[in-house]
Amino acid sequence: MKLLLLGSGGREHALAWKIAQSPKVEKLYIAPGNAGTSSVGENVNIKATDFNALKAFVLKENISMIVVGPEDPLVEGIYDYFQGNPETQHIAIIGPTREGARLEGSKEFAKEFMQRHNIPTARYKSITADTLEEGFAFLETLEAPYVLKADGLCAGKGVLILPTLDEAKKELKEMLSGMFGDASATVVIEEFLSGIECSVFVLTDSEHYKVLPVAKDYKRIGEGDKGLNTGGMGSVTPVPFANDEFMEKVRTRIIEPTVNGLKEEGILYKGFIFLGLIKVKGEPMVIEYNVRMGDPETESVMLRVKSDLVDLFEGVAEKNLDTKTLEIDPRTAACVMLVSGGYPEAYEKGFPITGFDQAAATDSILFHAGTTLKDGQVVTSGGRVIAISSYGNTKEEALAKSYKVAEMIQFEKKNLRRDIGFDL
Ligand code: AMP
Ligand code: GLY
Repeated sequence: MKLLLLGSGGREHALAWKIAQSPKVEKLYIAPGNAGTSSVGENVNIKATDFNALKAFVLKENISMIVVGPEDPLVEGIYDYFQGNPETQHIAIIGPTREGARLEGSKEFAKEFMQRHNIPTARYKSITADTLEEGFAFLETLEAPYVLKADGLCAGKGVLILPTLDEAKKELKEMLSGMFGDASATVVIEEFLSGIECSVFVLTDSEHYKVLPVAKDYKRIGEGDKGLNTGGMGSVTPVPFANDEFMEKVRTRIIEPTVNGLKEEGILYKGFIFLGLIKVKGEPMVIEYNVRMGDPETESVMLRVKSDLVDLFEGVAEKNLDTKTLEIDPRTAACVMLVSGGYPEAYEKGFPITGFDQAAATDSILFHAGTTLKDGQVVTSGGRVIAISSYGNTKEEALAKSYKVAEMIQFEKKNLRRDIGFDL
């Protein structure tokens, strides 16, 4: 079959790498892709949110499946756009409907959904400019630190954690007066949860589900989880604390109520559900839902999926995921992200990247994130540049391999965290 993958980051290179291994795939296109995806498929210069251009392209090329990498096209309703049109109805979309994508697109919707289905999550209150005083009163019932979340999508920047009540009140007011534009017209105030986090990925056909390998990502720029939040500096799978006992609780208290809750509410959901979980006193709680795979978790998780991912996607499309097998590699996989110096604040782009030949002689796998081709040379084009993923019998072994390759890949002002996996 001919397949189109949407997106342009490290997550999409990892998905493309895995999809391209399927004997079912005759041709893989990636829109818009990056310098890495062009080595496993053909890049198409169309934005992932340009539905009209995507429609024209898939009809021209006779594409039968679209896999959606990032959240924006989902929140903007790509599923409904294709399924609602007789010309494109036959095309399978791997990703939820617009309504399902609200689990990520609206923090308020996600919290209300969890409340309706008794899914464990932090206590909260949803506030608008009209209810600011109620917001202040709720903050006063909580203990420091204070968590404020913009309701809408903010490219990962919409969560503020404030150390004092005064700062929390001040920031709440600023958020409601447009700090993140319309996205923060509603703000969710949450009780702060203390514990260790992990990312659980579920693939569902709206009836059945499969649980992919659990991973942990490292979001802060600095070692020891210090400094600003980034899009992710590395990841490790499996996560030792997400053992059978913990995962049984996740399954019965979170995954099943989520899948069944969507079904009961008549929300069609055929795609990935990403559960951002936190373990609080041994018990799993939901920090957030995302409606896609994680980045950079995908860059380690895909290494451990042994089964044909496209076969699983067919199960999603045909609603017979229960008849498919998901075989998991027992080894550890870890990824280390090379980033541009200065990121996540201002940084320069366009630096040539070298060392690919040397890296190719190792058994690590490079997933491009922010790279592009300029006059035949791969150059940096984003904050997160390349993820280096490796297998190991232990996390130490996997990470040692990635760090070795991290030395081979060179570009000006390269930065990385040397302590990925430190807390596992
Ligand atoms: P998000 O942008 O929703 O991924 O949130 C960013 C990060 O904020 C999460 O990964 C958590 O580390 C942290 N966070 C969000 N909500 C809470 C909470 N209720 N308690 C503690 N930490 C939180
Ligand atoms: N790694 C977290 C995310 O993709 O949102």
